[in-house]
Amino acid sequence: MDYYPAPGRNHLFVPGPTNVPEPVLRAMNRSNEDHRSPAFPKLSKSVIEDVKQLFGTTKATSFIIPTTGTGAWESALTNVLSPGDNIISFLFGQFSLLWIDQMNRLNFNVDVIESEWGAGADLATLSKKLSADYSHSVKAVCIVHNETSTGVTNNLAAVRRVLDESRHPALLLVDGVSSIGALDFHMDKWKVDVALTGSQKALSLPTGLGIVCASPKALEAAKTAKSIRVFFNWADYLKFYKLGSIWPYTPSIQMLYGLRASLDLILKEEGLHNVIARHHRLAEATRKAVQAWGLKICTQKPEWHSDTVTAVVVPPHINSGNVVKIAWKKYNLNLGVGLNKVAGKVFRIGHMGYLNELQLLGALAGVELSLQDVGYPVTLGSGVAAAQAHLQRATPLIASRI
Ligand SMILES: Cc1ncc(COP(=O)(O)O)c(C=O)c1O
Repeated sequence: MDYYPAPGRNHLFVPGPTNVPEPVLRAMNRSNEDHRSPAFPKLSKSVIEDVKQLFGTTKATSFIIPTTGTGAWESALTNVLSPGDNIISFLFGQFSLLWIDQMNRLNFNVDVIESEWGAGADLATLSKKLSADYSHSVKAVCIVHNETSTGVTNNLAAVRRVLDESRHPALLLVDGVSSIGALDFHMDKWKVDVALTGSQKALSLPTGLGIVCASPKALEAAKTAKSIRVFFNWADYLKFYKLGSIWPYTPSIQMLYGLRASLDLILKEEGLHNVIARHHRLAEATRKAVQAWGLKICTQKPEWHSDTVTAVVVPPHINSGNVVKIAWKKYNLNLGVGLNKVAGKVFRIGHMGYLNELQLLGALAGVELSLQDVGYPVTLGSGVAAAQAHLQRATPLIASRI
């Protein structure tokens, strides 16, 4: 390999894949073992059960699948829907766009509610459509909770309210790929029917596990859904759950040990509540830095602020891709590029997963240097100082050191 890594740590501030913590790396650094041994179900049952805490559910059934977020989308759709089914889906960024593309290719009939990139889901239009659907022909409403391309978080409690007020029985399918495990998520309270995430985001694992939770209503729908599915067929998993061996194929053993370690860090060491508070703190600090730089974020209203990713809009004479390029070439800092409609216009600071205050301040310093390098007249230290002021106020003592 002739790839020479730069000295020191790489500053990985893309909104996934995120940093993998040392305890997780160590937990995964093991040989293969027999997944049919009497010892293995102890691990598999514990992760299948504990992962539900991230989703805010005790009622749902979880499936841990060797796939990515894209596969988790497919698992959600094909298990509860039949070809030709009407679904409503929101479009407001690259990932909602890609999910809709998948829905179309799976032969569902998608009614798209589109908003500007930077805005959240248009719930007034959803309400009108559901109220007018007297025959209940709409089988599912699909939404990306946190649009990673624009830094927009949608209010899922409000989506649920619209469904309830319209007395509409459509299933609610939620992409939580860049939210679950980092942002508040209440699958049971919001009556989400299928929620999903991927391992390389808030869980701070390598890419390769798709985690899908299905409500009892979703499991019921799966009994009659006619979409062709084989690898993703929940019925096969459920059969194996009864047998006690969990996977209908060879599971990714090392990743499951990594998942166990990641869940221990989130649920036992730090506590999910503290993890969510930390994401909020780092996001607020980032937003204050952007403001101090005299720049705007892509997110149009504070109610949609994302606590896992901030998309920073650059002035028209600057190409945001050059900010990302110089940050990597000169400072060993990885920022997210602008995708599709916002390519060249925004760069993204991912503040998701296993990160702390000083890491963020280092990254913000790197962003300032990079902005100056590409000709944006930022005062060095301005954003860092604004973020520091916030973090000094908002950061609690480390729980294990009080
Ligand atoms: C919100 C969202 N959904 C889905 C995906 C697709 O996930 P994957 O790349 O793991 O297939 C991503 C990836 O970044 C994402 O951010």
